[in-house]
Amino acid sequence: MNLDDDKRLAAEAAVAEVRDGMMVGLGTGSTAAHMIRALGRRVGEGLKMDAVATSHASADLARELGIRVHDFADVARVDLTIDGADEIDGLMLVVKGAGGAMLREKCVAAASDRMVVIADGAKRVERIGKAAVPVEVLPFAKAYVTRVLAERSDAVLRMAGGEAYLTDQGNLVLDCAFHDLSDPHEVAAWLQGIPGVLGHGLFLSEVDGAYLADGGVVTRLER
Ligand code: A5P
Repeated sequence: MNLDDDKRLAAEAAVAEVRDGMMVGLGTGSTAAHMIRALGRRVGEGLKMDAVATSHASADLARELGIRVHDFADVARVDLTIDGADEIDGLMLVVKGAGGAMLREKCVAAASDRMVVIADGAKRVERIGKAAVPVEVLPFAKAYVTRVLAERSDAVLRMAGGEAYLTDQGNLVLDCAFHDLSDPHEVAAWLQGIPGVLGHGLFLSEVDGAYLADGGVVTRLER
């Protein structure tokens, strides 16, 4: 069993929660791609479902596989969202956004009756905080927000191919290694109060359950 097998097993376990008639939120990342492929197989076998996606990449993959994908702008409620994570602890506190989709992921998670995280066991941590927290920033406010974030973190502008990485919305990402993340709720509230910060990867209340696969064994956690 390698890491990718574990991602696939966690994804397939979560997909078993999907029922006919559901509106499903599709996460982003390599584990979410396994989930979308597993859903595509079930749709091929007759599952009737609709979806919204948290990124262009996930929407494109889902459509290729025959999944009906709607514009989230037209969808007020989602039954179940299945998404990856960069870190998850036993209290279901989660860091997301290594793939840059955290703002859309947060919106879709908030609209969801249930959100489950799928991940390989390496993402399970005692306490979140080793992974940098991605922060989505309005380009107009880059210098100001960078100055403020630097007060409490080592903030690094995410790059891609020699240029600043841009999210699906055309915003910047600053990956912030916080000096102290012992109170993530306080940090999240602080981030939300900075003009020019549009979103961040701390998911502290959204996640209801998780499927974590380690060495081929899937463990289910519930909040
Ligand atoms: C996307 O922005 C992220 O939140 C992903 O869900 C997260 O990075 C997990 O990605 P992998 O499944 O590729 O590790």
